[in-house]
Amino acid sequence: MKSNIFKNSKNVFLDIVNTEDYIQIDRVSKMYHSFKDSVNKPLKMLLLYGKPGTGKSMFLTKLYHDLLSSRIVYLYQTPILDDSEFFKTLAKDILDVKYEGDLNFTQFMKILDNRLLDYVPIVLLDEAQLYSNFLIEKIRLLSDTRKIKFVITLHKTEKEDLIAKEHFQTRIWDSIELKNASASELKVYIQKKLMKANCFDSANMFQDSSVKLIYNLTHGNYRDTNKLLYILFDIYSHYHENNPTKINTISISNKIIEMAAIHTGLIHV
Ligand SMILES: Nc1ncnc2c1ncn2[C@@H]1O[C@H](COP(=O)(O)OP(=O)(O)OP(=O)(O)O)[C@@H](O)[C@H]1O
Ligand SMILES: [Mg+2]
Repeated sequence: MKSNIFKNSKNVFLDIVNTEDYIQIDRVSKMYHSFKDSVNKPLKMLLLYGKPGTGKSMFLTKLYHDLLSSRIVYLYQTPILDDSEFFKTLAKDILDVKYEGDLNFTQFMKILDNRLLDYVPIVLLDEAQLYSNFLIEKIRLLSDTRKIKFVITLHKTEKEDLIAKEHFQTRIWDSIELKNASASELKVYIQKKLMKANCFDSANMFQDSSVKLIYNLTHGNYRDTNKLLYILFDIYSHYHENNPTKINTISISNKIIEMAAIHTGLIHV
């Protein structure tokens, strides 16, 4: 039996954030480079918006890796929700101060004030919508000192719009919004992702009509597309092992796309 190419294809669509898997999409790539340049401008804060699954964590993680060689930079992927833990982590990372017991904002500011850093460390905060309004306000105050630069990502919801208005409107100097892929971007995304993993045969199976159907189901959301294609290749893989004559390996079957969509809840039956 021919080796099961669909198994590898399936794993391409695991919902994992790994910079080595980063796919350049022209439009996002342009935004990425201008955003990365902004980091080096002497301004305060950067904001990355977008609905769930639009690639914010991926973008932020790539930024982290790209900045590592030239800047002092920290990435907090999981929010540190406890105020004291947050300031203690900052103190340890940025000021190399290990603090026993609680550390509040005022104490942290005192330590920061007494410190002369000849560089501005960059702190990347993912999932910032999970921080309390109190902590967000302190992060804003910290940015105002210009001693630390924050890059934060937020879900774009009404609540987060409010946060942005209240806390950041006059202070941010750059913000970008990540959006779902267009149908043609989705095709690039799917094919490049597969080709990166040497799944050329599977990549070639995606004709415009299949991509269009996928786009209609996922609206170009990267996470939903991952989920759908993971299940899709799981189904293909299953057929390949149990009933290989039933599948056509020239192009993706709309029927299997629909089966996968039902399984992932993108189509309700
Ligand atoms: N440019 C890209 N290259 C490769 N994969 C990507 C890219 N953008 C998004 N993805 C894929 O889409 C998935 C969802 O992206 P990501 O986790 O970055 O979304 P998010 O905006 O952070 O979502 P949430 O708001 O729920 O945290 C990732 O696991 C990744 O596999
Ligand atoms: Mg995320």
